[in-house]
Parts: sequence; C-alpha cells; structure tokens
Amino acid sequence: MRILGIESSCDETGVAIYDDKEGLIAHALHTQIPMHAQYGGVVPELASRDHIKRVVPLVNIALEKANMQLKDLCAIAYTAGPGLIGALLSGAMEASALAYGLSIPCVPVHHMEGHLLAPMLEDEKPEFPFVALLISGGHTLLIKVSKPGCYEILGQSVDDAAGEAFDKTAKLLGIPYPGGPGLEKLAANGREGVFNFPRPMIKNPNCDFSFAGLKTAVLNATLAHKDDLEEVKADIAKGFTQAMADTLENKCKRALKQTRLKTLVVAGGVSANNDIRSRLIELMNSIHGKAFFARREFCTDNAAMIAQVGMLRFKAGQIGDYTVKVHPRWALSELKAL
Ligand code: KG4
Ligand code: ZN
Repeated sequence: MRILGIESSCDETGVAIYDDKEGLIAHALHTQIPMHAQYGGVVPELASRDHIKRVVPLVNIALEKANMQLKDLCAIAYTAGPGLIGALLSGAMEASALAYGLSIPCVPVHHMEGHLLAPMLEDEKPEFPFVALLISGGHTLLIKVSKPGCYEILGQSVDDAAGEAFDKTAKLLGIPYPGGPGLEKLAANGREGVFNFPRPMIKNPNCDFSFAGLKTAVLNATLAHKDDLEEVKADIAKGFTQAMADTLENKCKRALKQTRLKTLVVAGGVSANNDIRSRLIELMNSIHGKAFFARREFCTDNAAMIAQVGMLRFKAGQIGDYTVKVHPRWALSELKAL
C-alpha cells in the first residue's frame, strides 16, 4: 500500500510517497525561503498562495519518481496542524479534494508527530520506548514516547522555542532568514569561551526550558560591541550555540535519568545543527546509550515524515472525512494512541 503525503504548514511545500513495506519511495520539496527572505521572515499570505501553486506539480514529480499513478494510492495524508492557518488550509484543501476525487481516504497528520518520528525513516531505527527532544521553530519539547501515538510531555519551553532563539540571535547578528543554518556557519569560525552566555533554567530541577534571556544576553553583547561587531560576530555565534547545547544536554540528561531510558531521539529543524548533534551524541555515549537523528534534509520541514505518520494513522483507521479542518494550535498529547 502506498500513501501520498502533503506538507504545507509553513514555508516549505513537500510531497512524498511512502510504502508500508518498502518505506519512503519518493519525495519532492519546494522551499519558499528566497521568496520570504526579502521580508526577513515568513509572510503568511504569500506562503498560502505559493503552496496552492506548488502542490500539484510536486505531486506529479513524486509520482514520476515513484513510477506510479494516482490510482495506485491507498490514501492521501496531509499536515492538519500546528502551523500557519492559511498555509495549512492550502494543503488540506488540495489533499481532501484529491482524495475525494479518487474515492480514497484522506488522513490528517500532526506536524510535530511527523518530526518526532522522522528518525524512523532511516535504516537504523530507534526502538520504543525512548525520550524525544523536539527542537523546531515553534516548539521545544522533551517527551517520553512509549509507543507511536503515546506522548507524555516531560518538559517544554516556557517562552521562546530553540529555533526561534536561533532565528532571533541570527537577526541580531545580521544573518538573513532563516537564521539557524547561517548562524551554524558563522559559529564554525568562532572561538569557544570568548562569550559566556547564561544557561537558562539549568539549575531548575525539571525538564523545562527558557530561551528568552539567552536572546537578551546576545542583544546586550551586540550593543556592547557595536563598534567592533564584525570582529566578534563569530565568537558570539559560538557562545550562543554553546549555551544552547549545554542547556539541551542538561535537560536531556535529566529526562533520561527520570525515565531511566537510554535512547534519545532528536528531531525538528534545530536537530540539523552539527554542534548540537555532536554534543547529544557525546552525552549518549557517556551514559552508554544511543542518540538517533533524521538525515539533515528530514530534520527541517518535509513530506516524507508526514507520509510516514499518515501510513501509521491510516492503518489504525484514523482517517478524515474530507472536511477541510485544520488546527493552527494542536497539542501532541491530544493525539489518539496507535
Ligand atoms: O522544524 P522546522 O523546519 O520548522 C518548524 O516546524 O518550526 O524548524 C525550523 C527551525 C528554524 O528556526 C531554523 O532556523 C532552525 O529550525 N534550523 C536550524 C538549523 N537548520 C534549521 N537551527 C540551527 N542550526 C541549523 N543548522
Ligand atoms: Zn516543522
């Protein structure tokens, strides 16, 4: 059985085909980054209109890559939330109309569940139960995952998400949107320890995060160095990344201890960052456990992760009714068990 997945929650239009036996068969992605970059961030209305234009051509590309036709599909999965309402509606409408026209089910998928299970697209898959660290543009969550669909939130950010902190810091350093990848490149030339930024909430005995203070500390550093900012930018980027890595490591360690688990799954856009990846790999080696990540292109938004979860939910009979209904805010804990 083969399902088509459509992702359109923010600034990337993705389409993928997933087979329940063979796994991922084909995927195609169109990024809107150049379109939004001139405005310094995502313009929701432009995003929605662009998704509408891109979905059908991408579906054709994916079908061609998979050497199959629409009639060979068993269902169509789409991102139903969380995300930008207009962007979500674009994908939901196209998916529902296509599924209705083909007389096959449509399957609403939670974007963060897609991210969370994206490392299962790789050959070496994590085994349940595990602790998941979800670090994206809008979310920072530590979750105990006993099986697909069973998500116990252990901690979350009380203010900015990790990706948001990367983006805001990047903006302060004059790095164009989206800031995360640019900040990673800049930090590669920075010196360790020149800037020692705060590790927020590291002493709190829980698994919650706070990144707003870190961003303010970076702001203060840029103001203090306004005359020689160019010379210290890379050091600031390095200092920020180290503070972020220390905080994530500390909270993961706590969550693993609390749950007595030795498997850590790291997902979401920020998990593409090599400094963060190596720090969490080191942590897991030190406790004789293992860290799992998706390949870098599946850390950020894509449809492969939506098609994979779509297949799980389709097989569990959790299908939609062609009503175009999306959830811009949607807690993972609301999902049904699988
Ligand atoms: O998961 P994602 O693609 O979208 C959401 O669901 O939010 O995450 C996007 C976030 C952005 O904040 C982006 O700057 C960050 O992930 N990001 C990175 C890197 N690549 C993407 N942050 C740090 N280093 C990267 N290499
Ligand atoms: Zn995402």
